[in-house]
Amino acid sequence: MKRHLALHGLTTDHHHTLGLAVRLKRGAVREATALAQLFLSAYEESMVHHFRGEEEVLLPAFAAKVGDDHPLIIRTLTEHIRIHRLADKVLKTLQTNAITKKLLTEIAQTLEAHVRFEENELFPAIEAALVDDELNAVMERLPLIDHTVRTEQGITVRYAVNLADPKPAP
Ligand SMILES: [Fe+2]
Ligand SMILES: [Fe+2]
Repeated sequence: MKRHLALHGLTTDHHHTLGLAVRLKRGAVREATALAQLFLSAYEESMVHHFRGEEEVLLPAFAAKVGDDHPLIIRTLTEHIRIHRLADKVLKTLQTNAITKKLLTEIAQTLEAHVRFEENELFPAIEAALVDDELNAVMERLPLIDHTVRTEQGITVRYAVNLADPKPAP
């Protein structure tokens, strides 16, 4: 199913997040600290804004149709909290330089599962529940929250995580 234009920016972010997840999974042990830092910068510069857009604009519009405690809303919020908790864990673990492949794999799997859930279950449900005007209203409000940028061609361009090989820790 073709994504509604209102969700293009979020879907673009999801593609970047899947790229990041692959990077975190495939990285060598010696890259663990650099990859943890890569995750943290993506989290701080992109993911937190993305989550805010979903929580403050998209989910309330959906909740108006299906109720605040719909299982898809509860699952989305629970997974956001899990990602916030993992970011906090990475921040604390970096202080002792004890990042493990196990932690990076857990983060990668969590990010991947969250993106697939939103793309395969949440977004189709939102597209089915909201009429065009309501989705357009979401599109107007999202950039105020989640840093969406539109080009002159009307294409939504988002912050992209730099997936170039991080420098190994000295
Ligand atoms: Fe998302
Ligand atoms: Fe999300």
